[in-house]
Amino acid sequence: MKLFKEINAFRKFLKGKRQNGVQNIGFVPTMGALHSGHISLINTSKQNNQLTICSIFVNPTQFNNTDDLAKYPRTIENDIKLLIENNCDVLFYPEVSEMYVDDEQTNVEDYGFIVETLEGRFRPGHFNGVITIVKKLFDVVEPTNAYFGQKDYQQCAVVNQLIIKNNLSVKLNICSTLREVDGLAMSSRNARLTIEEREAAAIIFQTLFQIKKSFNTYSIDELTTKSITQLHSSPLIKVEYLEIANPTTLKPLVDKDERTKAVALIAAWCGNVRLIDNLLLFD
Ligand code: PAJ
Repeated sequence: MKLFKEINAFRKFLKGKRQNGVQNIGFVPTMGALHSGHISLINTSKQNNQLTICSIFVNPTQFNNTDDLAKYPRTIENDIKLLIENNCDVLFYPEVSEMYVDDEQTNVEDYGFIVETLEGRFRPGHFNGVITIVKKLFDVVEPTNAYFGQKDYQQCAVVNQLIIKNNLSVKLNICSTLREVDGLAMSSRNARLTIEEREAAAIIFQTLFQIKKSFNTYSIDELTTKSITQLHSSPLIKVEYLEIANPTTLKPLVDKDERTKAVALIAAWCGNVRLIDNLLLFD
């Protein structure tokens, strides 16, 4: 696997590859602390592209909480080992100074409701940071395909908008969420859960699954209230939001019938760890 820390050398390498006939480049942006969820994106990219690139960059501008940034797990040696084992072709892992000049503002154009709702409401500025870094990374890599996880549902919707707004030629590929045996979505943050919290965290997916099962039985209001009560049956869980929304606009649903397409999204604290998950409520 080729490793790059500097944009210039990386660009030169990519230019050479393109000159040598590489036409399909798959790109998997990450913040490291890699787990099987990330690796599944690498594997999907490997199957569909001549060259697969992973980036690892803990992007400071998307953390609205400095403590969360400081505590974000950094396991670069293990990450490199995993990527090599899984035949990733290239790793780009720049320093902060390579991606941002001093005091750089991350104001992006107006994305409206899609960045203000859900995560945007509880993590102000988060998507400004995501949009800024993903745009910079796309600009360096110029990928044919980009792979993102459905685990971060709203992030996929925002990146989709970023591509549309900027007329980028990259194709967004959304990959399904990898889960632990008890349903908990794999996340770098899970490593910070205590044994008790780890056990309690499974209730998030159980609740999503329950919503899907009983979607046709109850009203949106009933589903929401019942689900929050179910989550709070564990003293370790504190719900930040639970919403049943339109899968495209993310506008909260008020009414529905059997054919209504919806997605359920949850953010909840499990002890000191903030977890998110979602489930499409149609097949
Ligand atoms: P990170 O949290 O490291 O996630 C990198 C990619 O892996 C994202 O597309 C995420 O949705 C996907 N992913 C995480 N857990 C997953 C799981 N259990 N199953 C499948 N895919 C999963 O998301 C980010 O980094 C950053 O915001 C980033 C896009 C890199 C911009 O900084």
